[in-house]
Amino acid sequence: MVDHYTIFEQDNHIWIGESSYDPAFEAKTESLFALCNGNIGIRSVSMLPSLYGKRGLYASGLFHQAHPSEVTELVNCPDPVECRVTADGIKLSPDSPWLESYRREFCPDTAELRFSMIFGLPGKRRLEVRETRLVSFANARLILQKISLKSLAGDFERLELTSLLNGQSMNEGVSHFSEVICRVYDREVMHLEARLEEETLSLMQICCGNREEDGPPLYALFRRGISEQTALSLKEGEERIFLRCSSLMVRKRREDNIYEQREELKDAARKGFDFLQEKHRYFLRMHQKRCEYRIEGATLEERAILSFARYHLLGMMPWNRTDCSIASKGLTGEGYRGHVFWDTEIFILPFFSLHFAEQSRNLLIYRYHGLAGAREKAEQFRYQGAMYPWESAADGREETPRYAALNIHTGKANPVWSGLKEHHVGADIVYAIRQYVDETGDRSFLKEYGYEMVFEIAAFWVSRAVWDPDRKQRVILDIIGPDEYTEHIDNNAYTNYMAAFCVKLALEYLKEAEKEAPDICRRLKTEQQKTGWEQFLREIYLPVPNEDGIIPQDDTFLGKEELPDIRKYREAPVRQTVLRDYSRKQIEEMQVLKQADTVMLLNMFPTLFTPEVVKKNVRYYEARTIHDSSLSYCAHALACAAIGEKKLAWKYFQNSLHIDLNDRAPDSVDGIHGAAMGGIWNCMEQGFAGISFSGGVLSVNPHLPDHWKSVEVTLQVQGKPVLVKVTHTEVEVTTPTTEGDELAVAVGGTQAVLKDHLNLPL
Ligand code: BGC
Repeated sequence: MVDHYTIFEQDNHIWIGESSYDPAFEAKTESLFALCNGNIGIRSVSMLPSLYGKRGLYASGLFHQAHPSEVTELVNCPDPVECRVTADGIKLSPDSPWLESYRREFCPDTAELRFSMIFGLPGKRRLEVRETRLVSFANARLILQKISLKSLAGDFERLELTSLLNGQSMNEGVSHFSEVICRVYDREVMHLEARLEEETLSLMQICCGNREEDGPPLYALFRRGISEQTALSLKEGEERIFLRCSSLMVRKRREDNIYEQREELKDAARKGFDFLQEKHRYFLRMHQKRCEYRIEGATLEERAILSFARYHLLGMMPWNRTDCSIASKGLTGEGYRGHVFWDTEIFILPFFSLHFAEQSRNLLIYRYHGLAGAREKAEQFRYQGAMYPWESAADGREETPRYAALNIHTGKANPVWSGLKEHHVGADIVYAIRQYVDETGDRSFLKEYGYEMVFEIAAFWVSRAVWDPDRKQRVILDIIGPDEYTEHIDNNAYTNYMAAFCVKLALEYLKEAEKEAPDICRRLKTEQQKTGWEQFLREIYLPVPNEDGIIPQDDTFLGKEELPDIRKYREAPVRQTVLRDYSRKQIEEMQVLKQADTVMLLNMFPTLFTPEVVKKNVRYYEARTIHDSSLSYCAHALACAAIGEKKLAWKYFQNSLHIDLNDRAPDSVDGIHGAAMGGIWNCMEQGFAGISFSGGVLSVNPHLPDHWKSVEVTLQVQGKPVLVKVTHTEVEVTTPTTEGDELAVAVGGTQAVLKDHLNLPL
């Protein structure tokens, strides 16, 4: 149960709201209710200036390094949302003592945000300031605000509404723009241009009221910004409405056309809010149709969070682009500097694979563009092939910062070892490629991009492993697996198995690649590499369960002491509090996990070990996991659902539902947790409904929680919509079209062919 937020239904849509202004929750709610359409994302900061807000507008793929000593990061663009209102000389703000009531509400079904603030002002006057805001799914660069000023009591002689384009925006104190230039076009369009080295941001705005007698607005320049002011009077009961249309364009070249941007904006302003809102809803609806869901028996809160997760997934996808990917915080904040992690391939991509396969393809092509950077990194560390960066931004270069949190003993910043030692990301990319190709059969992808990535990543692993004369096997030393509390270890089970998986797949693909893409094979000298790959597979050390059935997470893990009082840290209201009591070094010497590690391996290769071993390992590792990463609960929920441990699966699912939407004010202030959004959806669809698609077969092996009577989801399988309904007793599969290939459906031990409708008992 979440107390800070209220959840309610209105006009068949779910809303999530805040009914009072709480500075402690300000930054968190801004992330949760951020409006994103995949191209741009804007935090749900109040238009009126607030003391505690973290204003932020981000454009997909727009990265910049402010200084050689700084990390490349997602740029916080100039702010088009801020608007100042003065009522007879009194400045209004949610922080002002005049604030009488406040509501901020967000609808994940329509991707709309609304604010309502009532100010009780001297002379028993009351003014209501309302705003409805959206970032259009119909026009990817458009931001709309419908603003209403209404006198609930008393007259107002002079209300001033000042609309700003503010180029003073910074990323936590760092400004990225070398120059900001502002002007007005045609006495109605404000324009701000902010220059980076390679790109120029062009931000335009029209703010229109509905009365002629206000006279022309007053434009003014201020440092790095421009404003327009309208003055008006309001009698008791009167309301005035303004439409603010803003558009953000990233110009790569000077000659990109701002005339077109201006005309488009004027056209939008002429069409008006209702028309644009309708269009936005229609386009969003088109996306939602491909991932429709209905759960009989789910509570309103469960449904709200599933819709919330779906909204954020749709909002973080850079639709139809291949030059950028999904940041771990989507477009909702500056956490992790907007960088891309394995989160995308392993936690987020499965949602897109089952609903928008063409977008999964794009995400993988982004990794192809990073191949040059990954090759450079491999060379730098004297390895072969491609060594993908742990964190990436615009290209394949390593972007992990070198230092982070404090060492409590030395008082110095701790080095971040992930950029140097966490190598599984390349294997995760290969895993996602295999998943995509299995699901779509897209051989052209392999020919153009996939083969090359798989071969180069396999080559990296072969060079990364070394011969251990004692074991008489190849080992992978000094590495970090998914559990980042265990650094510099040898033979992390997840990593070793993933490395073997990559090389095995490379050999499998090689047979076809020799016919389909001989030039790639020639260029990468695969013929010469083949024997090395085969030898690697024969010799690589793959940890097996010990006599107690436990798979060692690494060579030394099982011999370490356990962390005393792990409960204290698991139950702490703030994450990673263990680092306040212990140094990283001390933590490394203990059996304590930040997040699922071996459990990830069990999820990704469900048939590698017996169900008995899986059960034992899930239990063993869970007892030692703090879940200090948002990626952890959903992994445990999936693992438990797969082995039929329904109660535990439910417990971890509940925990992942509340990763962002919870009562812990410090969580999520830097952005929502993208991987958890994917994880929540994967638990519902793949874990509980048990849906997977591979090798042309749609499999359904459900493990529904007892109180869910049924789960219905619409998938997009090989280009056609497929509706799967799962109850406790049967599985129903329907497709409205008989066009396209017939689809093989497997439920338990039964296999059947879907023409238009199938009903299979469980
Ligand atoms: C986790 C990583 C994850 C990253 C970004 C870290 O805290 O340990 O597994 O990739 O956050 O979400």
